[in-house]
Amino acid sequence: MDSLSLKVIQVPTTPYTDQKAGTSGLRKKVKVFRQPHYLENFVQSIFLSLTPEEYQGKALVIAGDGRFYNDVAIQIIINIAAANGVHDIYVGLDGIISTPAASALIRKLNEKNGADYCVGGILLTASHNPGGEDEDFGIKFNSKNGGPALEHLTNKIFEHSKTITSYPTLEAQVKVDISTVGKHSIGEGVSVYVIDTTEDYVELMRSLFDFESLKAFVNRPEFKMLFDGMHGASGPYAQKIFGTIFGLPETSLLRCNVLPDFGHGHPDPNLTYAEKLVKLMGVFAPSEDSPDFGAACDGDADRNMILGKNFFVTPSDSIAIIAANAKAIPYLRDGGVAGVSRSMPTSGALDRVAEKLSLPLYEVPTGWKFFGNLLDAGKITLCGEESFGTGSVHIREKDGLWAVLCWLSILAHANEGNTSGKLVSIQDIVTKHWQEFGRNYYQRYDYENLETADADKVFKQLEHEMPVFIAEGEGNTAVNFTYTDPVDGSVSANQGYIFRYGDGSRFVFRLSGTGSSGATIRIYLEKYARDGIDAKAEDALGEIAARALKACQIEGLTGRTKPTVIT
Ligand code: G6P
Ligand code: ZN
Repeated sequence: MDSLSLKVIQVPTTPYTDQKAGTSGLRKKVKVFRQPHYLENFVQSIFLSLTPEEYQGKALVIAGDGRFYNDVAIQIIINIAAANGVHDIYVGLDGIISTPAASALIRKLNEKNGADYCVGGILLTASHNPGGEDEDFGIKFNSKNGGPALEHLTNKIFEHSKTITSYPTLEAQVKVDISTVGKHSIGEGVSVYVIDTTEDYVELMRSLFDFESLKAFVNRPEFKMLFDGMHGASGPYAQKIFGTIFGLPETSLLRCNVLPDFGHGHPDPNLTYAEKLVKLMGVFAPSEDSPDFGAACDGDADRNMILGKNFFVTPSDSIAIIAANAKAIPYLRDGGVAGVSRSMPTSGALDRVAEKLSLPLYEVPTGWKFFGNLLDAGKITLCGEESFGTGSVHIREKDGLWAVLCWLSILAHANEGNTSGKLVSIQDIVTKHWQEFGRNYYQRYDYENLETADADKVFKQLEHEMPVFIAEGEGNTAVNFTYTDPVDGSVSANQGYIFRYGDGSRFVFRLSGTGSSGATIRIYLEKYARDGIDAKAEDALGEIAARALKACQIEGLTGRTKPTVIT
């Protein structure tokens, strides 16, 4: 192509008023993104929120989880990025780069080429939400540390989106073939690199874990595992690591082909939506024949669910147990753990570990971006959330496959020298942990797709209830959570209502920031037990649940008699 093809034109546009990003970027139905200039406006608002020095002549990553509209959006963004003066554009093969791999790639590009080489990435994903023509699409910007843009930047993007009048693009629109790996010059030194990102990501994982011993462990005759890619972006990575490198049979890898509609599924790895895996693992109907280990990742591969034989590991326990077993994971054993962090609604299981190991613990609001500053400042090494997110300092996103590799490492370590023919199981590991640290019984109720006005009424009601709850018992507190970032001093208010009993048990209310329509209220229930660790969560939490439901009057105010999902 000749250089004339890079003639830039300004396309006039009018602003949309609804481009405010939620917890993880802008998420809407595909048809919203298909409105004239909708995507273009948002993309240009990102550029307007950066300084030209940050991106002109520099690199940009465009990642996607493979969902419907990814292919169209990628081409639009390539043209706008080139028109803004970006020189090197990195796209995954077939447009697919998982969210953790995108974070890793941005960081690697900057490590290799100088810290200002890559301005960051535009990630096309609605994470765990369904895909397809009538379903969800999403877009977010990750900064050059590989982490989601911080609030001051997302606010700026929103402000620009409300006043934008034009955006630049190439006069002769280019369409890059993203189905083959290689460098595509599109003119005037501007190149699109179509890369096989599994390579970089797999090398990163290899540097953190002991692949040889994991391979030996998963091939033990008495061990059987299943991985469910839910037709999302984890599939190619799982096939490479578990299939090609570890040599697991195809039958161990479920739904690892990426589909634009996730096979009509809801790519959210939890007990409700990973139904088939949960059944095969015997979580609700125990069987002697259930496999020993099961795991799933969400659409963009940053979330994870961990299962054992007939057993579910709650995400809150997962991060606590990874922290307690850091010595089983080579890079944590060698590098140590500087500190740990969890989101506010995540259970205090991690706090018990931090206390015992004398590790600093930080409680941040919901949203992975809040871990970024703590990780960058070296204050923490591990972090996790109740919403099936677990991660570490190796990147600036949560990382589904990394979590699976952590658990496999813990299992392998626990079974070193065990020749009895009966493996130490996931359940054994979790039970031992509870015996040592106590158990934080935990459940989450989700009320999805409420009328926004009804959800507001519930929170008003809770404000009335706060003083009532405080007066009810000695040591009771009720607060609206505010976070002050210890690194940059920024303040995030209104992050959820915490009703806490004197003994540390609590119930918490939050409005979800990731839904794509209506409002979702989440109620988080937690009770700590030093002993008596064998109850069912719903039994141990019965009284707390009843008090929480009374506090919010959700049935009367919204007409909902029960949650949409309980996890
Ligand atoms: C995304 C973010 C997480 C966050 C979760 C919460 O997955 O990456 O950091 O915990 O959303 O979603 P919610 O719907 O509860 O706001
Ligand atoms: Zn996700």
